[in-house]
Amino acid sequence: MTFVPYDRPVRAAFVGLGRIYDLNMRAYAGNPDVEVVALVDPSPERREQRQSDWPDAAAFPSVAKLAASELDIDAVECLLPIPLHADGIVELLDNGWHVNAQKPLCNDVEAAQRVLDAAKANDRVLRVMENYLFYHPLRQLKAVVEAGDIGNVAGYHVKMVGSGNGGWDVPWSSFEWQLKQIELGRGIMVFDDGWHKLSTALWLFGPVREVRAWIGTTSFGSGIDIDAPAMISWEHENGVRGVWDITLAPDLYMRSDYYTNDERWEVTGTKGYARVNRIMARGIQQPSLEVYCDGEMRGYHALDDDWASSFRDSGRHWLRYLRTGEGPLMWSGEQAVDVLRFALAAYASNAAGGIGVDPCQVI
Ligand SMILES: NC(=O)c1ccc[n+]([C@@H]2O[C@H](COP(=O)([O-])OP(=O)(O)OC[C@H]3O[C@@H](n4cnc5c(N)ncnc54)[C@H](O)[C@@H]3O)[C@@H](O)[C@H]2O)c1
Repeated sequence: MTFVPYDRPVRAAFVGLGRIYDLNMRAYAGNPDVEVVALVDPSPERREQRQSDWPDAAAFPSVAKLAASELDIDAVECLLPIPLHADGIVELLDNGWHVNAQKPLCNDVEAAQRVLDAAKANDRVLRVMENYLFYHPLRQLKAVVEAGDIGNVAGYHVKMVGSGNGGWDVPWSSFEWQLKQIELGRGIMVFDDGWHKLSTALWLFGPVREVRAWIGTTSFGSGIDIDAPAMISWEHENGVRGVWDITLAPDLYMRSDYYTNDERWEVTGTKGYARVNRIMARGIQQPSLEVYCDGEMRGYHALDDDWASSFRDSGRHWLRYLRTGEGPLMWSGEQAVDVLRFALAAYASNAAGGIGVDPCQVI
């Protein structure tokens, strides 16, 4: 790839102006690295609503209309519903634009290869954003673990409790495409939200050689089949084992400015542990990171633990990359395929009764 950083602000378009735009746009607001020149969404209400953020941007109902306008675009912030990711990202790359795509990259390896091929053929940069890698408490947890503060890593645990009670409003239209994903066997807990958990595992401890999964279903009728309870465990190539439990507690009230998941990351070392207590929702009201060692608990009280800041910082990282070439991308398209394979290995293991599956072997 022959990417040359821009010596001027990047000319960017938002494609998809729905719920998560509210957080992704924080990277663009007041950022001298970028000029937002176009907004795309078929919904006139969404276009009108988001136009007030960028009064000088041109608004279009489709990518085809944006392309036909011949407006100069360098890069796109792609916030499309998941079922549209593969074809949508290919369309953006084929127009000659760099793409910062939302996760999950897409639903299967064949589609992922198509997207990677389109990036290569068009000589464009594809990034699959992973805001959790920019969440300050998780970054600090990584630093504590790597500094050896809790001894050698003995294992770790990720906990996620899904609840629909509290938090911000999610439009019904968002659930409609989630239902399509459920039909395709790509559930909201394991595949959509779960993408972040698998990403952070790879980021913390490197490649995974074996995955074992037991994925259940809780049905609420009308096709709303939530992929929980579920237990997924794995072993990294370095021998460290991780386990992730997913539980559904539909009536659990969570105070949150965003979604209502109650989440925890806990790494156990040979002489202590480090735990991130919350991410999206304000479940445990302790410091967002606590580190225990030698009978003493250290609490981190001044981390930027607003989940929205991870979107701001992830997006700023991308725009800085376009301006300076300073990487790594966090994540590249190829790294996103590793996350996809991790998820697909969990499905393959579950289908085969929980046996160990090597992510490299899934097709
Ligand atoms: N990183 C995270 O933590 C996080 C959190 C939530 C959602 N997401 C991801 O963000 C993406 C969008 O999710 P959302 O919750 O904003 O969904 P949403 O349904 O609220 O918004 C999607 C928007 O895309 C628009 N759209 C549909 N077809 C389009 C097309 N062909 N061209 C342009 N726009 C089109 C819709 O009108 C809608 O406004 C998904 O990939 C989702 O997985 C990521």
